Amino acid sequence: MRIKYTISLVFFVALVIIEMENNIISRVSDKLALKQTPQTPLQPSGLTHILPKHNASFTKLSKTNSAFSLIKRRLENYSQHKEVVMRGRKHILLLATTRTGSSFVGEFFNQQGDNMFFLFEPLWHVEKMLTLETGGTNATASAKAYRDVLQQLFLCDFSLLESFIEPLPVNHITTGLFRRESSSSLCQESVCSPVIKGVFERYRCRTRRCGPLNLTMASESCLQKEHRAIKSVRVRQLENLRPLAEDPRLDVKFIQLVRDPRAVLASRMVAFAAKYKNWKQWAIDGEVPIDDDEVRKLKWNCDNIKLSAEIGLRQPAWLRRRYMLVRYEDIARFPMRKATEMYRFVGIPFTPQVKSWILRNTQASKETSGVYSTQKNSSEQVEKWRFSLPFKIARVVQKVCGPTLKLFGYKFVSSEEMLTDKSISLIEDKVFNFV
Ligand SMILES: *[C@@H]1O[C@H](CO)[C@@H](O)[C@H](O)[C@H]1NC(C)=O
Ligand SMILES: *[C@@H]1O[C@H](CO)[C@@H](O)[C@H](O)[C@H]1NC(C)=O
Ligand SMILES: *[C@@H]1O[C@H](CO)[C@@H](O)[C@H](O)[C@H]1NC(C)=O
Ligand SMILES: *[C@@H]1O[C@H](CO)[C@@H](O)[C@H](O)[C@H]1NC(C)=O
Ligand SMILES: *[C@@H]1O[C@H](CO)[C@@H](O)[C@H](O)[C@H]1NC(C)=O
Repeated sequence: MRIKYTISLVFFVALVIIEMENNIISRVSDKLALKQTPQTPLQPSGLTHILPKHNASFTKLSKTNSAFSLIKRRLENYSQHKEVVMRGRKHILLLATTRTGSSFVGEFFNQQGDNMFFLFEPLWHVEKMLTLETGGTNATASAKAYRDVLQQLFLCDFSLLESFIEPLPVNHITTGLFRRESSSSLCQESVCSPVIKGVFERYRCRTRRCGPLNLTMASESCLQKEHRAIKSVRVRQLENLRPLAEDPRLDVKFIQLVRDPRAVLASRMVAFAAKYKNWKQWAIDGEVPIDDDEVRKLKWNCDNIKLSAEIGLRQPAWLRRRYMLVRYEDIARFPMRKATEMYRFVGIPFTPQVKSWILRNTQASKETSGVYSTQKNSSEQVEKWRFSLPFKIARVVQKVCGPTLKLFGYKFVSSEEMLTDKSISLIEDKVFNFV
């Protein structure tokens, strides 16, 4: 009886010891995994200390080289896995052009909660500084600057961005960060320094009273967050961002947001009236000079968007599982469904905060009951442009942006009547291949 008892006790103690050792092992390998990038093979010398000494079969195995390398590979697999789990950190880049609803979609990530560091149009500063006297930018130079700044920001390093901020920040303090208040991360307690009397801030926080932005504090806060997201309407070519996708320190997810170019033009003619006064004139005259610079610009924009999307949809190795195409029209009609899809694609949980923000800012309540019914009102909003854009202008857009419309599933109109016929939807149901 007593022997039986002793054996059980010994067995129990042994189990406890094994369990403790296992804990130590996993902690040690966690540390190892932290120090090593997934690409770096673990050093065999480091391994001998970590491998389970209590596993007799291992002791035998380790005597042969082949067995040793097998275990080494297993451990590599294990630490790679750990690395991913531990890092689980996502870097989301929302790519769009103006008037495509990118501010709205940006909120899906800005509202995520305490796990997300969100930046709203940081590249505004870069574009501004690189704008030439002609009003344009050197595409090569700005593409490189955009990429480098984005890469640093995803690593919570603001130094390159700082060099583009005017006036230049002093001791990493700035009063002029564009739309600071649109990044909830930059108005949090931890990034809020005391107000300085008499210092005016154009882009001051709305949720609390904060002094000038201390970018060192912003960087520290960024490092604490699990995920990072940036919205930008300035990147022209997805391909230019390839180094970000291939950076082992990052796990970048690109979300490209597109919208019917006819609707975009209609919206820009209202929002940027001064810049689009030629278009407004043509809308009145009813004639568009097809060889005009403005028309060429429109074509150039459409071609860029199409080219980026084509690369994304083709899913080359460097973009595999990293690219998602979303149409503004689908988000406007099914915000909850699309937001859920985007979160699933990115690989992070869809939080109640985002859900309630969407509910408060759309009429998606019906959708949440699982019906995913089309919101008549949202559809109306989405197609409102059809009553403000003259057919002649729509036809010009169709002519220069034809392949882009086709790729994204926007129906061509052949007459004024068709343009304004509400019973004909111009949005084809289209599923884009991703994930
Ligand atoms: C010991 O190693 C063998 C062979 O690698 C494995 O099948 C077994 O699960 C290990 N036991 C423990 C307790 O780790
Ligand atoms: C390591 O993982 C890869 C794929 O995840 C698998 O094919 C391979 O067999 C694993 N190697 C070992 C030694 O477990
Ligand atoms: C644009 O910038 C690149 C790189 O900075 C430079 O080599 C090129 O000459 C510039 N092109 C023009 C037209 O200024
Ligand atoms: C900015 O924040 C950093 C880090 O919290 C701090 O060390 C530094 O003193 C702050 N700068 C100023 C001018 O307050
Ligand atoms: C759309 O919304 C407006 C006000 O929000 C309402 O008056 C109108 O009846 C709605 N239309 C449809 C088709 O639901």
